[in-house]
Amino acid sequence: MKAFVTGASGQDGFYLCELLLEKGYEVYGLVRRTSQGHELPSGIEVVEGDLTEAAPLIKAIATIRPDEIYNLAALSHVGISFEIPNETFRVNVGGAINCLEAAKRYGAKIYQASSSEMFGNHEGPCDETTPLNPVSPYGASKVAAHHLVRQYREQGVFACAGILFNHESIRRGGDFVTQRVVNGVARVRAGLDSKILLGNLDAQRDWGHAKDYVRAMYLMMQRSVPEDYIIATGRTRSVRDLLDVAWGPNWKSVVEVDKALFRPVELSTLRANPSRAFNDLGWRPWIPFESMIASMLSAAREKLSEQREVNFGVSRLRP
Ligand code: GDD
Repeated sequence: MKAFVTGASGQDGFYLCELLLEKGYEVYGLVRRTSQGHELPSGIEVVEGDLTEAAPLIKAIATIRPDEIYNLAALSHVGISFEIPNETFRVNVGGAINCLEAAKRYGAKIYQASSSEMFGNHEGPCDETTPLNPVSPYGASKVAAHHLVRQYREQGVFACAGILFNHESIRRGGDFVTQRVVNGVARVRAGLDSKILLGNLDAQRDWGHAKDYVRAMYLMMQRSVPEDYIIATGRTRSVRDLLDVAWGPNWKSVVEVDKALFRPVELSTLRANPSRAFNDLGWRPWIPFESMIASMLSAAREKLSEQREVNFGVSRLRP
């Protein structure tokens, strides 16, 4: 089996490629030239290119002829999408169209990374039938791509979408709240900073581990009929709860709220009902929140001590 994964250098791309390689797939990872420097799973074939350029992308698919396409590439930071809405749509919608077209032309199955951000502020747990009311340009772009998936499915393409709630790991980008918290904790504990600057502490999310969530992507693609699934743990926590786990109950002494880190419109609470995925896919999240944060914290500490060693080495060389 052959798989083509866009966004292979991102957090989810890395874990998904690793999983598919373990399963014996030949894996082709689309990587932008500018995202070089990110670690890639060893054993994948790297395809350099841009998701938004239709002709080269379709040519690559025509040559490789993958059985499965996973479209994970996106501009994924919700806050930044308010600053660059056009670019967010160009990548997240234009890129999805290119992948769907390629899947249709060459008979590949396709998985699209949809997002819980599509729901906006909804009372109660969201399931696959919950109305989509996004409150950010990012959310709106994901809704557009999500509808396109349905339309291609109606045209006979095996197209499915995973509506993933927040998912983290040591590979999570530094601008997301879990990494800001663990990096902040590591720096304060090391005496490098006195405060951790954060935005909305009341925000509530359902946080799972990316490694668990890529298993769900794979399982969706093995079904005989394409369907969309909510992927989440079913447990919602606040940023305050996250601080409790990462620092301890007296975190208030080290956290400072910075209004600049709020979004123009806040999505306050996301709750999920992942029972359809539990029942149909037999999927369950395995990695507990506490151990995920503990592993992210130790990775943050390790990175910090590596940086300090480098800095120490440099300063010793100076006359
Ligand atoms: N990034 C960030 N930085 N968020 C903060 C901070 C901060 O300093 N302080 C508080 N928050 C709050 C945000 O306002 C938001 O309500 C919540 O923490 C989570 O923010 P993020 O970690 O940036 O994630 P997100 O929920 O906006 O979006 C992520 O999850 C979606 C659902 O899976 C992204 O990965 C999206 O791409 C993804 O679709």
